[in-house]
Amino acid sequence: MARHSRPSNGGMKTLIIELDRESHIPLYAQIATQVRELISRGALKLGDRLPANRELAETLGVNRSTVTTAYDELTADGLINSQVGRGTFVSAVPAAKPALADERVLASPMPWSALLPGERRDQWMSGFEGAQSGKEMISFAYALPAAELFPLDDFRRSVDRVLRKEGRALLQLGASNGYSPLQQYLAAQMALSGIHVGPDEVLITNGCQQSLDLIHRILVRPGDEVAIENPTYPGAISVFCGNQTKYVSIPVGERGLDLDVLEDILAQRRPRLIYTVPSFHNPTGVTMDLAARRRLVELAARYRVPIIEDDIYGELRYDGAALPPLKALDRYGLVIYINSFSKVGFPGLRVGWIAAPRIVIAHLNAAKQRCDLHASLLAQAAICDFTRHGLLAKHINRSRKAYAQRRDAMLLALERYFPEEASWNKPEGGMAIWVKLPEAINASQLLLQASEQGVVFSPGEYFYACSPQAATMRLGFTMAGPAQIEEAIKRLGAVIKTRLANLKKHRSVGRAAAGRTLV
Ligand SMILES: Cc1ncc(COP(=O)(O)O)c(C=O)c1O
Repeated sequence: MARHSRPSNGGMKTLIIELDRESHIPLYAQIATQVRELISRGALKLGDRLPANRELAETLGVNRSTVTTAYDELTADGLINSQVGRGTFVSAVPAAKPALADERVLASPMPWSALLPGERRDQWMSGFEGAQSGKEMISFAYALPAAELFPLDDFRRSVDRVLRKEGRALLQLGASNGYSPLQQYLAAQMALSGIHVGPDEVLITNGCQQSLDLIHRILVRPGDEVAIENPTYPGAISVFCGNQTKYVSIPVGERGLDLDVLEDILAQRRPRLIYTVPSFHNPTGVTMDLAARRRLVELAARYRVPIIEDDIYGELRYDGAALPPLKALDRYGLVIYINSFSKVGFPGLRVGWIAAPRIVIAHLNAAKQRCDLHASLLAQAAICDFTRHGLLAKHINRSRKAYAQRRDAMLLALERYFPEEASWNKPEGGMAIWVKLPEAINASQLLLQASEQGVVFSPGEYFYACSPQAATMRLGFTMAGPAQIEEAIKRLGAVIKTRLANLKKHRSVGRAAAGRTLV
């Protein structure tokens, strides 16, 4: 048994790790277990820095990949995290377990890291718990409905009504394609926006995220290429840019998806499908105009590539004229339309739907059965009652008014408090404003200073499948009232201006220094 330690080094803790090279337990597992123990015992505290992979590997006389695997395991447990350019830190301390008399911590012989896929793009949702907590923080980080507007009593009455009417049947297993009154309601509702499908061409899902996953499962084979917007919704990146799928990214400009680039891609590479959010795109807020919508459908038809149209923000229009969804313009049966009640209603309910040709729905339904049998019957029945009593329409009208006011408050505050080098769009709907900062500013780095001032937002780079633009941010405007928005934008503007001033100062000092060297 060898004993290795490293000396304390400017904030870095002494780390004593003993490796048993004769053991059947892999070396990385021994390292991970011992670091975990050090954290549990309090020998390593929250915020302590761990040695860099290379250093620890040298100290212990193991391969660097052994330490990387151990750190990956601890990261997956949420105990440590690595910050680019800063190092690896203890990020959580596990709650103390009640001690059993003869309990000994055994190192797991299971090579979990080797069994699990290396890539972890599925972590994009971490931090969402924060949407509920952090009361003193003003959050622009989410594109979520304002919970204080949820009409709780109306919804409670819907739940009561359906339970009284349908009773135990709602607690029994149901049909995998969905609760049929809801399918009928949705088919009738979609007809109002020009989408003509029968109830049997509608599959109820647990929200758009699941719809994307199901579509991916049935249409995309390993090695296939998928065309996605860049930037785009991170949940779509996590589905389409995973281990087995190749993707090709299409830039999003002022008019939405860049159709010239898409046309070249379609001609050269024939992707398996195209994913797009044509109305109030997440994160940029842009909406494709009618001509662009028509051209997109015609292009997809010419190259026989299906389109996934994600219309989750479609109903949240505050000004301008309504536009038909792509599916309403589709004479070819190539658009797979997805939507949900998450933005217009309640995201926690997890009810969404897919409208697609029957043959596609049949395959999706089989995939849904393999995945989770069906969406919650109670949730489907309750939202169906809620819509049928006109309560959803009432709630959407109220939300639209509140969100339009909040968007306007944010636009006004941006004008007032942001530096003139920054620019942003004025979305006609949706839930967020997309800001471009001066090139030199990295929004992720700014987030720490902003949060010290009680404001958080989403750095734009989260939304890129590739070539992230660090000087961008998405500001969700739905979750704070106008007065709070004004205050938080004022604070955020001050943080950005200070950062800009510091950058300018450094640059001029750098230039002066360079000048002296030349002389
Ligand atoms: C464009 C887009 N699609 C899908 C989703 C997820 O929707 P759901 O809650 O219906 O799964 C979101 C959520 O932010 C989104 O912005």
